[in-house]
Amino acid sequence: MKLTILGGGGFRVPLVYGALLADHAEGRVTAVTLYDTDSDRLTAIARVLADQAEGVPDAPAVLATTELDEALRGADFIFSAIRVGGLEGRAADERVALDEGVLGQETVGAGGIAYGLRTVPVAVDLARRIARLAPHAWVINFTNPAGLVTEAMSRHLGDRVIGICDSPVGLGRRIARTLGVDPERARIDYAGLNHLGWVRGLHVDGRDELPRLLADPHLLGSFEEGKLFGTDWLQSLGAIPNEYLHYYYFNREAVRAYQDAEQTRGAFLRDQQEGFYARMKDPTAPAFPAWDRTRAEREATYMSENREVAGVGERDESDLESGGYEQVALALMRAVARDERTSLILNVRNRTTLSVFDADAVVEVPCLVDANGARPVSVDPLPYHAVGLVTAVKAVERAVLDAAASGSRATAVQAFALHPLVDSVSVARRLVDGYTKVHPGLAYLNRP
Ligand code: G6P
Ligand code: MN
Repeated sequence: MKLTILGGGGFRVPLVYGALLADHAEGRVTAVTLYDTDSDRLTAIARVLADQAEGVPDAPAVLATTELDEALRGADFIFSAIRVGGLEGRAADERVALDEGVLGQETVGAGGIAYGLRTVPVAVDLARRIARLAPHAWVINFTNPAGLVTEAMSRHLGDRVIGICDSPVGLGRRIARTLGVDPERARIDYAGLNHLGWVRGLHVDGRDELPRLLADPHLLGSFEEGKLFGTDWLQSLGAIPNEYLHYYYFNREAVRAYQDAEQTRGAFLRDQQEGFYARMKDPTAPAFPAWDRTRAEREATYMSENREVAGVGERDESDLESGGYEQVALALMRAVARDERTSLILNVRNRTTLSVFDADAVVEVPCLVDANGARPVSVDPLPYHAVGLVTAVKAVERAVLDAAASGSRATAVQAFALHPLVDSVSVARRLVDGYTKVHPGLAYLNRP
């Protein structure tokens, strides 16, 4: 099996490679092609992978290239993990939004829209190219905003593109652990859009264990989401929201905390990763330890402003170990390549799963995966409060897709203005002005 990683010089590639190294079964990935536009980053990451492969006799061969067509040809699986505009772009997304008093997070609110507007045209080009050069490949999209980008690519690749995120898995695992049940045996009832979903049940042997958690304030307050949202609010909701809902339910506080922070998340990661990639230019510097230290620091500071708002301390030890991001990708790839039927929460086209969406809307729901790909399983309908949010955000995503296709500024304004976390059309207009000023990648928004 040949796996191609688009964004192969990206910081999280070693996580994926580490998971591949642990896979010795038949039908495993034997060749990895890293594609990136930046050859220095490729060299740096290739050095980390070489360290990881040391002493592993059947380690997948690694090839690094800046030639896209070469990377795509013959691929069985393609991971798309690109970052258009780099972390500098992410920092600018945050800055412009925060200066307007709205959220600049890379997937939620104004920042997510700006990032989507920059990324969709690139993702669409990639999807078209894949459809031509690797029509049989399965495409696994990690690129954020993952739901929106998957939907953009699905218009060219159909069900051959599947979007993944580790947050629903992580959430399910935390709930299961808190309840003292084996996460492997639990069926998690989760539904929504990427970074905008709710766990409504956790079933073990046909029994829903979630009510037991919701009824017990002590248990509820003992894990990450309980601390983040507060037990009262979770009891009112009767569900456990994805951690990204913190940006909605505590929006004012989150915006203020991010405004007051010394650095935005994007700026912090930009500096941190610049340091890592610079160090890798010294061929004698040990690669893996430097990478792993940087990774650990990134994990430890994840969503730190939100946790500060909630008065939550450090992240739990068990939440710091990686295993989400790369394990979902590997599980998905295995299920498809070996026809081993598995259940995973993925971003796929809705079909008839959630009645509030049309068939082509990409949603994040539990799916059955096998050699035929991922099919959503039926879930309970969403309650009205959730319907309100997910339909509003889907309307925003559709406006982003329309603006990316037409280059219409008015449609881009609409995308911002329709978002529940952007509180004025005037703000939306200024955001479009501000973003087009700082991002060369938005120059295409040049039609009325
Ligand atoms: C979570 C999210 C991902 C995100 C990652 C890293 O796993 O689900 O979508 O890419 O965190 O976030 P960071 O702020 O460290 O880039
Ligand atoms: Mn995610």
